Amino acid sequence: MKNGYERFVRPLLFSIDPETAHHFTIACLRAASGAGPILGWLKSFQPKPDPRKLFGLDFANPIGLAAGLDKNGLALPAWAALGFGFIEIGTVTARAQPGNPRPRIFRFPEQRALINRLGFNNDGADAIAHRLDKLKRSGRWPGVPIGINIGKSMSTPITEAGADYLYSFQRLREFADYVVLNVSSPNTPGLRELQGADALAGLLGTIGEKNMNPRKPMVVKIAPDLTTDQLGQIIAICETNNVAAIIATNTTLDHSSVPADKDEQGGLSGEPVREKSTSLIREIVARSTIPIIASGGIMDADSAREKFAAGAQLVQIYTGLIYRGPGLIREIADAIA
Ligand SMILES: Cc1cc2nc3c(=O)[nH]c(=O)nc-3n(C[C@H](O)[C@H](O)[C@H](O)COP(=O)(O)O)c2cc1C
Repeated sequence: MKNGYERFVRPLLFSIDPETAHHFTIACLRAASGAGPILGWLKSFQPKPDPRKLFGLDFANPIGLAAGLDKNGLALPAWAALGFGFIEIGTVTARAQPGNPRPRIFRFPEQRALINRLGFNNDGADAIAHRLDKLKRSGRWPGVPIGINIGKSMSTPITEAGADYLYSFQRLREFADYVVLNVSSPNTPGLRELQGADALAGLLGTIGEKNMNPRKPMVVKIAPDLTTDQLGQIIAICETNNVAAIIATNTTLDHSSVPADKDEQGGLSGEPVREKSTSLIREIVARSTIPIIASGGIMDADSAREKFAAGAQLVQIYTGLIYRGPGLIREIADAIA
């Protein structure tokens, strides 16, 4: 049976261009973030607490907001009020950048999927640090862990990626409970090369040298389109560099589930990435004890249960939220309680 969001809100949002719908939703949640009574009303949808502890952090429940929905950290109090157990903002880059030309988000309702080629449109590390600082001083900082996901500015050559990530890391670390190195978005040319053994070891080393007092948990977000060999190397490098967790996975470049005449360039998310992401989690769990945050195709209670059964400690949702609305948080929470 359809929930209230699917019956009343989604038809309205889906009647307008995807990116316009996105900006409208973020604007509403941003406004709500400054309005106590609305936050109070949103809280009435919250699931019961289901505390989890991972890499030294206390999570109110294991269901998080995936990166990319609130790239600029505009609505943290509202996401927390809706019941997310943790919130990941970003991807943030060292420099502000507009991303790729529009249109750049496409819906595939029959497949319960999205394709995006946004290209890290964001306000940049300086502006976002300033915004987070203001929120902290306002006393409205949420009570759940905040992850900050960082990536490479489009204009920085891949050979200088380390300095670009380091700038964002140093600018934003004080606001982050954990920091994610995004080396897996398909929309910044060359970015996925940073999943290669030498490049990833170099990047983790560069950040690791400056990650002291206090040391922030570092998390690596990987693509679903990796060979067994590539995955093995990533796991080994994450282990030697004391990476706190792996986020598996980002969007896929495998578009075989999308009708060829409607296909678009970019990363595919939602239902079609579910199985691929889950099998990658199983592969990691078979080889390592490194904690896993699952992302990819969590659209309902069953797909969330599948990730926990595969060995994930936490899950994150993006496309599921677009198709199912915030009721999905409670649906998953009730199913795993
Ligand atoms: C429109 C859109 C924008 C995204 N932007 C980012 C991003 O900036 N950084 C990132 O690490 N992942 C980004 N993602 C990937 C999601 O965080 C998530 O890992 C992926 O979509 C798979 O999960 P899902 O099937 O629940 O959507 C984006 C996804 C979508 C659909």
